[in-house]
Amino acid sequence: MKLWGGRFDKKNHPLFQKFNSSLHIDYHLSLYDILGSIAWSKSLLECNILTISEQSKIENALKMLIEEIKINPTKMLDSNVEDIHSWVEFRLVDMIGNLGKKLHTGRSRNDQVTTDLKLWCKSIIQDILICLKKIQYTFVTQAESSTHDIMPGYTHLQRAQPITFAYWCLAYIEMFKRDEERLQDAFKRVDISPLGSGALSGTFCNINRKKLASYMNFSQVTQNSLDAVSDRDYVIELLSIASISMMHLSRFSEDLIFFNSGEVNFIELSDDVTSGSSLMPQKKNPDALELIRAKTSKVYGALISMLVLLKGLPLSYNKDLQEDKENLFSAINIWMDCLNISILVLQSIKINTSSCLEAAKKGYSNATELTDYLVQKGITFREAHHIVGKIVLEAIKRNDALENLDISIFKKYHILFENDVYEKLDMISCLNTKKSIGGVALDQIFKNIQLIKDRLSIKSI
Ligand code: ARG
Repeated sequence: MKLWGGRFDKKNHPLFQKFNSSLHIDYHLSLYDILGSIAWSKSLLECNILTISEQSKIENALKMLIEEIKINPTKMLDSNVEDIHSWVEFRLVDMIGNLGKKLHTGRSRNDQVTTDLKLWCKSIIQDILICLKKIQYTFVTQAESSTHDIMPGYTHLQRAQPITFAYWCLAYIEMFKRDEERLQDAFKRVDISPLGSGALSGTFCNINRKKLASYMNFSQVTQNSLDAVSDRDYVIELLSIASISMMHLSRFSEDLIFFNSGEVNFIELSDDVTSGSSLMPQKKNPDALELIRAKTSKVYGALISMLVLLKGLPLSYNKDLQEDKENLFSAINIWMDCLNISILVLQSIKINTSSCLEAAKKGYSNATELTDYLVQKGITFREAHHIVGKIVLEAIKRNDALENLDISIFKKYHILFENDVYEKLDMISCLNTKKSIGGVALDQIFKNIQLIKDRLSIKSI
């Protein structure tokens, strides 16, 4: 069954029919297609194309169809129609007869499909915003319990300066906050109704498009129908936000895989998010995190394929646009799954406080403080840097931390070293020198935790 056929003498080849069909993908839009159709029927009533009783019959039948779909969301997959729009119309005609054939007056599948997809995007954006809030909440909870867990911070994957596990958590909150903001911004552009654009140049029906948009909870209407039926920028925007956010999840995964490695041993991942080896009984592998890292590539793939799909496409609607949904649906599902799995992993991490502290000490991550010590005593920074470099070299040769060196060794390199140098080298005092906004000093961390909790509306514990 088709929505067209009058000008054709021959039937479609079964191979082409299968190739052309999008029902197996766009059936996910069924509820939005029906909601858009109910809204459209109201506009048809307002411009006297439908009578009150006709509109109410159509609306009631469509509402019954929603109930049918809620009971069996994949029921349409048994049919061999071209797409979800065709399926809804045929079911309507089954239910109320010829009257159902009036519904498509003045409407095209071109404005219909992008309306459905925007409604789907609006709903999924709300779901993802909740996941992004949850992951930030999980990070801040983890941060609150690890404010004193000192570990090395890295540059070039070399131990650089001491930080705390809490500070590492707060860094990721910044990233997911930006993802949240990007998504809220993108929402504004998704929230513009294309319905009433017709095939490409508008509709002959004298409908009030703003009223029609409000029936579907859109806050604005598109201003050019040629653009409205061709536009898939919002799909690209969503995929690019997903890609950036997946990059954050992938870096998070990589950090944790490293922290969890036998060589580093800063954390232990819980049994419920790790797997074993079929051969090596001792293994406990960070599969969840490795999969997040891998699945990131699929989301990038979806973004790239959408950019390529659109780049040479002439205005306005082309069937190429049918291929927008499969990648979008799968990428968004991956993103949500990875956010939820990351939350699980994070909730169950055990921090190995002593290995973290030992690594921070052994890594000479307090060498910068030793330089600052000399600078405060009047030595130029460059000279102090050189002297401390020499002391670090000696400590490496002795295989000892800076704070374990005898004062006589410090004095060998500069007479201004006194016993107060050991306070400077203490890890907590190293942290507390970084008092600037965004720094690692404990006070700053506590302030930041409070700000985040207020933003996420979490009551103080
Ligand atoms: N299944 C189509 C899609 O997803 C619906 C629009 C079809 N429009 C058309 N003129 N053939 O894009």
